[in-house]
Amino acid sequence: MSRIHRLHSIAAARWRWFRELRESADVTSALAASGGGRFMGFNGNVVRARIVLGLAEALRATRFVETGTYHGATALSARRLLRVPVESCELSGRNYFISRVLTLGAPGIRLSREGSPEFLASVCRREAARGEQARPFFYLDAHEGVDPASLPLREELGEITAVASFAALIDDFVVPGQKAYRSGTYGGVPVDLALIAPMLGAAGIEACYFPAHAPEMDTGYPSGYAVIWRSTALDQAWARGEFPLNLLTRQRVPEAAHRPDRQACEAATAGLPL
Ligand SMILES: C[S@@+](CC[C@H](N)C(=O)[O-])C[C@H]1O[C@@H](n2cnc3c(N)ncnc32)[C@H](O)[C@@H]1O
Repeated sequence: MSRIHRLHSIAAARWRWFRELRESADVTSALAASGGGRFMGFNGNVVRARIVLGLAEALRATRFVETGTYHGATALSARRLLRVPVESCELSGRNYFISRVLTLGAPGIRLSREGSPEFLASVCRREAARGEQARPFFYLDAHEGVDPASLPLREELGEITAVASFAALIDDFVVPGQKAYRSGTYGGVPVDLALIAPMLGAAGIEACYFPAHAPEMDTGYPSGYAVIWRSTALDQAWARGEFPLNLLTRQRVPEAAHRPDRQACEAATAGLPL
């Protein structure tokens, strides 16, 4: 697909696909809502989008907060699928401009030209002040580049875990035991459980969830991801084992002090801002 076609598809994403996806009750019907592979957002992954919807519904999410807007495909899809206000931030002026153009006239989407730690600091301050009334779904995707500052994930986690009730999906994550998923390494640091375990432990988050299915089952770019949450409603929904949360598998967060790879983790993350 040419660049112009791709940008046009983002802007013209069909409402019908989102309605069908919302109503889908299994993987087959979710895949049927992919518009013949033209579904945009969530890296083009329609099954992942359905899982995000299932998580957001169980959480009773009050908004969708994305870091790393790029051209706005996920921001637009999330607005249409989840039907909650969307906020997103983007560091690059060029990408910010393109996403502003592509989301022109779409209500309920607020885009900021800002780095993710600053953006999340102000969003989370506001959300934390609302206590249990605020249940944001975070989509952490602002990592790109080779210098250590290009992976602000630990700062981002520091901000979002201050919110009482939330869920978060981290893109480009190493999925344990699923080598076919692509993951990211930024400034020499892989995005994996060893990197975030100390932050999760400190925040009292005991589990991390990963796709239980192979990436070939989905429609788009096979980036791995991890999901975390602090929500009793989501704990209960996951334990019921129903679609689509049955497509996620649970892994206990290892206690930082007992992990055999602790030294490697610390060496890899040395110098990263906390
Ligand atoms: C992989 S793309 C995001 C794709 C987008 N979330 C989507 O699903 O369509 C990563 C984006 O994050 C932006 N970015 C990188 N570092 C950032 C930071 N610290 N704060 C905000 N945006 C950042 C990049 O400019 C790039 O546009």
